[in-house]
Amino acid sequence: MAVNKLADLQLHNKRVLIRADLNVPLDGTKITNDLRIRASLPTIEFALERGAGVFLVSHLGRPKLGSNNDHLSLEPVAERLRTLLNRPVELIRDWQSGLDIDAGEIKLLENIRFHSGETENDRDLSRSLASLCDIYVNDAFGTAHRAHASTHGVANYVTDACAGLLLESEIDALERALANPKRPLVAVLGGSKISGKLEVLHNLKRVADTLLVGGGMANTFLLAAGKNVGKSLVESELIDDAKVIRRSAQLPLPVDVMTSETIDLRSHAFLRLADEIPSHEAIVDIGPETARRYAKTIADAGTVIWNGPMGIFEYPQFAEGTRAVADAIANTVAFTLAGGGDTVAAIEQFDISERIDYISTGGGAFLEFIEGKPLPGVEALKSDA
Ligand code: 3PG
Repeated sequence: MAVNKLADLQLHNKRVLIRADLNVPLDGTKITNDLRIRASLPTIEFALERGAGVFLVSHLGRPKLGSNNDHLSLEPVAERLRTLLNRPVELIRDWQSGLDIDAGEIKLLENIRFHSGETENDRDLSRSLASLCDIYVNDAFGTAHRAHASTHGVANYVTDACAGLLLESEIDALERALANPKRPLVAVLGGSKISGKLEVLHNLKRVADTLLVGGGMANTFLLAAGKNVGKSLVESELIDDAKVIRRSAQLPLPVDVMTSETIDLRSHAFLRLADEIPSHEAIVDIGPETARRYAKTIADAGTVIWNGPMGIFEYPQFAEGTRAVADAIANTVAFTLAGGGDTVAAIEQFDISERIDYISTGGGAFLEFIEGKPLPGVEALKSDA
């Protein structure tokens, strides 16, 4: 990676500003998944142990300017950091006129998106952030696809800018999977729609050896291949795209599927051949024969990238396809990389996180990297940026 690294810098008695992605899901003030907070700890601890004073910056959610955004305060995150780091973490609301920090201290700035200049990549806000520190560290892989003041602009006004340990390992894992993968490279793609993943599909059809599709996106591929998909969710306007992608990719279609007439906890799932889907039923999962074939392809892979479930796995009766694929990914000897909110939720539901080689903290950033797009947060760290 051509970006500056944290390990190359002298941190002792330096004021270090770490941009982390602490944008975690909340239920009220309760954090429902702290993966991103835990993933940010190695960089914070690395800096503190080397005698730096740390300012931590993050956004949380998408505050609406002019509205009451108290529910998007980072206070629950500060509290979780205090517990995990076992030291005081002060939440600072007012820092723009300057702020001191001592070696070994950590202060968390309140939700950076409370400032309108953040998403506008505003120069003044970028400069104010830069003035707090001697070294700027971007560790926010999940937000690296945003050119915002704290992920991009700030790097223009500091002497030293570098990647944190998390950002470095995310890029390393993605490059290992995409730039020079052990072959065959198998991409497992699911989720409800093709539309959000069109560019991912176009890029992967060039670099992957096989694409395995499930979830709602498989329905449009089935429709494009002339199958009747009943009441299934489809994107008819993308049929031509689906045909183009299939023409230049190894993309075997599901041969069987699970269907249902209704979608709720009590709905019954029916096993159907992909050629025989009744018009009053909707596809809710891949079928067992498809899952078996997908599992075989995954077992024979050198590298597997996984994004998106194979069905509506939140309901147990529609979860078997995702479970079978998840087990295959957990059991393969291939290098395995997974990312995306639903994918991480499935990994946790099936309790296989220890058996995936790398689980990305990125959602949109993970997909944009796979699309082959440069990430502004990473580009800003390159020495010649
Ligand atoms: C994410 O959750 O994908 C990142 O934190 C970025 O958040 P955003 O989509 O609101 O920019």
